[in-house]
Amino acid sequence: MELYEAIHARQCIRSYGDGRIPDGVVERLLEAAVAAPSAGNLQSWRFYVVAEPRLKEGLARAARQRFVGQASHVIVVCADLVTAENGYGDRGRELYCFQDAAAATQNLFLAATAEGLAACWVGAFDEAAVSRLLDLPARFRPVALVPLGYPGGTTGRRPRKPLSEVAEWR
Ligand SMILES: Cc1cc2nc3c(=O)[nH]c(=O)nc-3n(C[C@H](O)[C@H](O)[C@H](O)COP(=O)(O)O)c2cc1C
Repeated sequence: MELYEAIHARQCIRSYGDGRIPDGVVERLLEAAVAAPSAGNLQSWRFYVVAEPRLKEGLARAARQRFVGQASHVIVVCADLVTAENGYGDRGRELYCFQDAAAATQNLFLAATAEGLAACWVGAFDEAAVSRLLDLPARFRPVALVPLGYPGGTTGRRPRKPLSEVAEWR
């Protein structure tokens, strides 16, 4: 799939069919994630790959979003606060690590689209509950849950504001 095609085909899909995504495919997605840019190439991110049903259910509860538990895998994307702070002080801890993690998450999404997989970006969840469930070190702040699976249905493309509303040329 061409890059532009993947960019425009991508959508958040919240319904997943049966079947476990092979580990090799999940690894390809993670390789795509870590190909993202990061401040100073410090790669202030960490990924937890969750396939165990009890943990997926726990993530769904922490997000109060049931579809999360129905995915084949849930990738928990974390910002590495310490690596970013060591490199860039306050700006690293308060900004760069989140930008790094977001760039990696979008790469993961595009790769999932190119693989014909379904994914959704889930940002609304109880961070403390996720950290407890996965026993995350304090330096890793969970910033996104990405349920992945075989598509069980699509929602249709959501409209975007026109460029004239969101972009200015100077
Ligand atoms: C930072 C962020 C947080 C989001 N949180 C959630 C969420 O908690 N639950 C959910 O179902 N979708 C969530 N989404 C997905 C958006 O609702 C979705 O991207 C938006 O409606 C546009 O639809 P599309 O991605 O299909 O183009 C989130 C997206 C982003 C970027």
